[in-house]
Amino acid sequence: METGKVDVLLGLQWGDEGKGKVVDVLTPNYDVIARFQGGPNAGHTLEFEGEKYVLRSIPSGIFQGGKTNIIGNGVVLAPDLFMAEAKELEKSGHPLTKRLKISKKAHLIMPTHRLLDAAYEARKGKNKVGTTGKGIGPTYTDKISRTGLRVGDIFDNFEQKYQQHKARHEEMLKDLGYTDYDITDVEKTWMEGIEYLRQFEIVDSEHVINKVLRDGKTVLCEGAQGTMLDVDFGSYPFVTSSNTICAGACSGLGIGPNKVGEVYGIMKAYCTRVGAGPFPTELFDETGSRLRDLGHEYGAVTGRERRCGWIDLVALRYAIMINGVTQLIMMKSDVLDGFDTIKACVAYRKDGVETRDFPFDIEHGIEPVYTELPGWKKDMTKITREDQFPKEFKDYIEFLETELETPIKIVSVGPDREQTIVRN
Ligand code: GDP
Ligand code: IMO
Ligand code: MG
Repeated sequence: METGKVDVLLGLQWGDEGKGKVVDVLTPNYDVIARFQGGPNAGHTLEFEGEKYVLRSIPSGIFQGGKTNIIGNGVVLAPDLFMAEAKELEKSGHPLTKRLKISKKAHLIMPTHRLLDAAYEARKGKNKVGTTGKGIGPTYTDKISRTGLRVGDIFDNFEQKYQQHKARHEEMLKDLGYTDYDITDVEKTWMEGIEYLRQFEIVDSEHVINKVLRDGKTVLCEGAQGTMLDVDFGSYPFVTSSNTICAGACSGLGIGPNKVGEVYGIMKAYCTRVGAGPFPTELFDETGSRLRDLGHEYGAVTGRERRCGWIDLVALRYAIMINGVTQLIMMKSDVLDGFDTIKACVAYRKDGVETRDFPFDIEHGIEPVYTELPGWKKDMTKITREDQFPKEFKDYIEFLETELETPIKIVSVGPDREQTIVRN
């Protein structure tokens, strides 16, 4: 019997690597595009034909007609935000009801989860994570605590279940001293969102996906966040609350690991992070501001400034290992176009000792060891073929491939769908 394959695409840094753009570019090669974790903390940007879209919960495969898109069981879904996102897409001529299926097992983000997110952050004071405030942590906490509310629950006695969960959350908020809120309006929109969900196919998505595979079709799993935000392997506790790594695609969709084929690892030609937490190669100088300006490094969801720095090969080697990355995709190469020299962190030095292995603690006393390479000082945004790459850029790619022991198969030189070069 023929079986199809599952490829996984995920971020190798602290998120915002450009996953949305590449999923859109690769979608024509697949039958199904599926999100497996995260929720509206994600902001995946796509640009084509002069239009720009930012997707949060909806997979980035919805613009390349005729594909099935799935929101898997590992995702946490906010019905009100989902409704706003879906309606916006519909308005711009991209109706979803026939193209999107939602897992019954995806957990619902309640308005009180968002309050709890804010309350926990306030409680942490200067140690706060800098979350997106979308209720991600509290919703996954309820899931793991076996007290969550799932999409499939909307079909049976939902109002009562909702009130029970809400009452429990209100008790928790009271304990946290967080009582100054009014969710009357939000709750109304949230309930409208629940009604809105009913027009979509709410499915046992694990069965849908495995049937797709049995029929010899192909699936692309779209990661959210990035490996350094993974709850197990990221810069804990400054992480998100899900498994953003390749294994998350198996648990977040119900796919056997033996079905996974290619693992596409996405990275920027430099590095960014939004929110709090350690970032060894962060630049606090003019170069950092220059990267931010040239790369328009402001959060797609929160508008927050992204912290910027040089590429970190220690963290990337680790991410490649954890995910079993088979090919790399390098984004935002054009942002480095004007730099005289480019630095890459090849090792960390701590207490005078150099290491190339990613350590337990990257917060204290880590000093990046850099290799400096010449810049290419050419505009790459109009390049369409690999043979047009400036020599210094080719050298940069080769250097990275050697350091990372993984081929860079796709290079992105601008935000548009067209500004993508597949290497032979
Ligand atoms: P995602 O969360 O991984 O999907 O990434 P985001 O959408 O949050 O952030 C990536 C940003 O970079 C978006 O604004 C994209 O439009 C933009 N972008 C993607 N690829 C490129 C590229 O190659 N060059 C430039 N200049 N911008 C890019
Ligand atoms: P995409 O999919 C970048 C960060 C937040 C915060 C931490 C925890 O667009 O790459 P959370 O709200 O998840 O509890 O926040 O994770 N974060 C992201 N940073 N890109 C994202 O998603 C992110 N999603 C969460 O800034 O530091
Ligand atoms: Mg993003």
